[in-house]
Amino acid sequence: MLILAIESSCDDTAAAVVTAPGQVHSNIISSQFEIHAPFGGIVPELASRAHIEAIRPLVEQALLQAEVDLDDIDLIAATQGPGLVGSLLVGFTFAKALALVKNIPCVGVDHLAGHLLSSLLLDKPPVFPYTALVVSGGNTSLFDVRGHTDYTLMGRTRDDAAGEAFDKVAKLLELGYPGGPAVSITAEKGDQAAFAFPRAWLDKDSLDFSFSGLKTSVVNTVHKFKQRGEQIPVADICASFEQAVVEVLVEKTLTAAHKNNHGAVVLGGGVACNKRLRMQLSQRCSENNIQLFVPDPVFCTDNAAMIALAGYYRYKQGKLLLPDDDAYSRSPLN
Ligand code: KG4
Repeated sequence: MLILAIESSCDDTAAAVVTAPGQVHSNIISSQFEIHAPFGGIVPELASRAHIEAIRPLVEQALLQAEVDLDDIDLIAATQGPGLVGSLLVGFTFAKALALVKNIPCVGVDHLAGHLLSSLLLDKPPVFPYTALVVSGGNTSLFDVRGHTDYTLMGRTRDDAAGEAFDKVAKLLELGYPGGPAVSITAEKGDQAAFAFPRAWLDKDSLDFSFSGLKTSVVNTVHKFKQRGEQIPVADICASFEQAVVEVLVEKTLTAAHKNNHGAVVLGGGVACNKRLRMQLSQRCSENNIQLFVPDPVFCTDNAAMIALAGYYRYKQGKLLLPDDDAYSRSPLN
């Protein structure tokens, strides 16, 4: 079965052609980085407009690169939510229209389901059940994943997502956008023990996250340096902040895996590109005899290949879209 998948939930337009369940023929991403960079964050209205411009040529390119024609496609899958509704509607409506005109079955996919399954695209994929940490600009959640369409939320952020915290700290320190990679690179030159930023463990045994207190602590620290007219130790702040985020992500993921009695942990989402997170989670997993699976960076950030994969299993459940089905901003999984 040949699947054409479309993803436009935030600021990247993406299209992929995949043979079910996971042979990727093309996986193209059009980044809006240059559009949003001058504003230091995503401007929703500009994002929707850029998706409209990009979507058609991008889908054509994905088909061309896969050396297939629209008539060869057996299933169209599109991200239905969560995300920015104006952005989602572009890819979702395009997919529904294409499916209607060409009489191809179409499924709507939850973006989080894509991240939960993206490590199945690895050459050596995990087997169910596993514990998954989805950590991105919009989500920080832990899931018990028992099958392709069977997942239970174990904990989620109560305020900012981890990626959002990285982006806000980067903005504060004028490191540019997107903030995650900038903070991470700067952190390499800093001392992770320079500042004792708070770790929000929350209630005993809680698998929820909170990053707003940490962010406020970084803001206060920077203000103190500014008030005293002293140079801001940017690298030390980045390293200490990154360590505070990573420590909580790693320990709560381990706790979730133990609670589930799982021998495998899976990472997904843009923050999964973070080197410190990969290193420390890998170390803690191996100490605990748990196998860690991390997708290639291109499948960690927003991409359409993971939407194809999740879409295939939704199709197998018979969950086809109807013309009136709408996009949603909040995930029912979360
Ligand atoms: O999954 P993703 O591509 O998109 C959405 O969340 O929509 O994730 C993007 C997020 C941004 O917040 C970005 O700053 C963060 O992932 N990110 C990172 C790194 N690379 C991307 N955060 C920390 N370290 C990184 N190396």
